[in-house]
Amino acid sequence: MAETPAATLPLFHRACLGEHVERTPIWIMRQAGRYLPEYRALRERHDFLTSCRTPELACEITLQPVRRLEVDAAILFSDILVPLPGMGVDVTFNPGPHLARTIRTESDVRGLVVPDPRESMGYVLDAVKLTRAELAGRTPLIGFAGAPFTVATYLVEGGGSKSFSAIKSLLFSAPAVAHELLGICADTAGEYLAAQVDAGADAAMLFDTWAGLLSPADFDTFALPYVRRVLLRVQAAAARAGRVVPRIYYAGNAGGWIDRCRDVGADVIGLDWRLDLDRARRSLPGLTLQGNLDPAVLLGTRELIRERASAVLDAAGPAGHVFNLGHGILPESDPDHARFLVDTVRELSARRAS
Ligand code: CP3
Repeated sequence: MAETPAATLPLFHRACLGEHVERTPIWIMRQAGRYLPEYRALRERHDFLTSCRTPELACEITLQPVRRLEVDAAILFSDILVPLPGMGVDVTFNPGPHLARTIRTESDVRGLVVPDPRESMGYVLDAVKLTRAELAGRTPLIGFAGAPFTVATYLVEGGGSKSFSAIKSLLFSAPAVAHELLGICADTAGEYLAAQVDAGADAAMLFDTWAGLLSPADFDTFALPYVRRVLLRVQAAAARAGRVVPRIYYAGNAGGWIDRCRDVGADVIGLDWRLDLDRARRSLPGLTLQGNLDPAVLLGTRELIRERASAVLDAAGPAGHVFNLGHGILPESDPDHARFLVDTVRELSARRAS
């Protein structure tokens, strides 16, 4: 995959590849979002989906945290549910997602399509091109999609859920239908993420927020093969383009099946705070870890933020780490605390590396 000489790659890429780096790169999940006054100001004039569907707005929102926080990676402003209308299911946000219908039967699944990303998500690909041009090589841009199991969960539940009984019921009462649905979600995510790579995304991330609902055996059956399918397409797209495009798999609540993440086909495994990075490291030799500060720590004092950031760096060890929160930054977070975290990680990790 590597045609670009490693020394010329950005810090973020070198860390993703497991190299010893001069300091630990950091970005923040949901770094573009409601905790930023400039985001809230823009959202007063444009609703969420319009912001996702207008390349100039998506680009501007993507750049807001890059300017304010000087993070080491940008993540495209969009949502994991943006491909749903192209699959045949309309979605609205308020602020959580609400689907126009649920997918629970064989005939529901038969009615879904794998969209051509150039036709139904062209605005995302235009946003990737525009944002990458604006970033001008200074900061790498992460493209993303929802992992098949997590997107299937939304399709079956029709939105957020507390019990997740509808998705569990489908898995266990109609596994063949579930597999058909997961295959459609995998093909959709694979085509979509590969198209983002073709459009210039510098890294590709797959969010599996709800995979932690699964037992290890069910992870092997209902999540892992489909994640692999997506990431293999991303790898092929990167190889065709002759570019190094790190693949990141965000594994939500992964304690029960962390060892399986070795086989998903990712370079980097993103983790939440429920698992210490030194323990995850033992299960995942050779992979880079991303995470995993509890987002609520940003609601504490600067002393606490420094102490907890230092503990994450210690647990991560000397190489193969991208600093991040363990989940999205909370809307009530103080942006100055986010900036303080970035500066602190920079200072503490540079000191450890020298
Ligand atoms: O800055 C970034 O991280 C890029 C943008 C991004 C959003 N959603 C913007 C968004 C990304 C990467 C996502 C991923 C996403 N969306 C996930 C996976 C990661 C995770 O958080 O677990 C999931 C599960 C979703 C689904 C979703 N979209 C939910 C549950 C919600 C509502 C609750 C919430 O956390 O805000 C959304 C809406 C959403 N997506 C908002 C943003 C900024 C808020 C909408 C608003 O501004 O009103």
